[in-house]
Amino acid sequence: MELTRNHSLKNLNTFGFNVKAKQYLAVENEENLKNILKKTYADEIFVLGGGSNILLTGDLDFTVLHINLKGISVVNESQDTVIIKAKAGENWHDFVQYCIAKDYGGLENLSLIPGNVGTAPIQNIGAYGVELQDYFVECEAINRQTLETKTFTKEECNFGYRNSVFKNELKNQYIITSVTFRLTKKLHQLHLNYGSISQKLAEMNVEHPTIKEVAEAVIKIRQEKLPDPKQLGNSGSFFKNPIIDKKAFEQLTEKFPEAKYYKISENQYKIPAGWLIDHAGFKGFRKNDAGVHKRQALVLVNYGNATGKEILELANKIKSTIKETYAIDLEMEVNVI
Ligand code: EPU
Repeated sequence: MELTRNHSLKNLNTFGFNVKAKQYLAVENEENLKNILKKTYADEIFVLGGGSNILLTGDLDFTVLHINLKGISVVNESQDTVIIKAKAGENWHDFVQYCIAKDYGGLENLSLIPGNVGTAPIQNIGAYGVELQDYFVECEAINRQTLETKTFTKEECNFGYRNSVFKNELKNQYIITSVTFRLTKKLHQLHLNYGSISQKLAEMNVEHPTIKEVAEAVIKIRQEKLPDPKQLGNSGSFFKNPIIDKKAFEQLTEKFPEAKYYKISENQYKIPAGWLIDHAGFKGFRKNDAGVHKRQALVLVNYGNATGKEILELANKIKSTIKETYAIDLEMEVNVI
């Protein structure tokens, strides 16, 4: 555990912004984590996970704690299911691949999502009809004030669409150290109906897919649509898909009958933010090095030397245009710091 000053975070945030942290420390075990929390005021600490859901708008006058706890272990297993626990610093995609290699089913649709295991519950990551909460059992977290370890059940996490208790009542109060999942060892339940998974599997000439083949299809779809942060800085979906009520939906479709939507309930409709932004003419827009991705308007990109402030300016411009054009408020999915 070594503390460095003026540490560049360029390789630690997927937008690739070259901002510096006043102090930086990577923690490899819970004991060191508790020690550092004991010595430092909570409001002087910024906790960094995989860096895939943050927009850094300037240098950080904090001690950045990089949660680097590693390890995957089977807690329990029966003939049909396995309870598996991964430490917070494990890379999410590598963990999913590990499970697939063992033929543990459930997380395959969540392949290639950037970030780490420990930050995945905070926003209840989701893709192609599956959300983290579907396979979640519990997570362990350290209280930043009392240093006590608490185990959160699924109910206590209060998961919602890209949402959990860790983004609301308990924001910045706990550091998640591990997450436990229940996965299947046989009779895997495949989720093939969302998006173009079935179509992709047909293109791959797969009739009876294994979880490995489903993961391959998901990876192909994501690679076609979403830019690889290693090549082009981004943080995946920048905005949440807004949910509007029936009245607002009727007003929208009266003006724009071509609008895309998913009906959630009698009075709730989810409108793809990507469609709104694309339809408003922003797809492929670029100012200096800050832009809207060419193939997916939901993703803002850094072409090289954009700053967080420039991306934020672009995001605000998009937000106000969407509000004026469609009377819909877009909410950012990324955390602005
Ligand atoms: N669309 C456009 N133009 C665009 C982008 C999208 O017209 O530039 C339309 C599409 O044609 C489609 C609809 O919008 O009809 C939805 O688009 P898509 O399925 O590509 O994405 P999404 O449903 O908006 C969500 C998640 C993604 C996740 C995909 C697949 C959110 C905010 N995003 O996107 O999550 O991968 O579904 O399940 O819920 C992420 O969170 O970082 C992320 C990539």
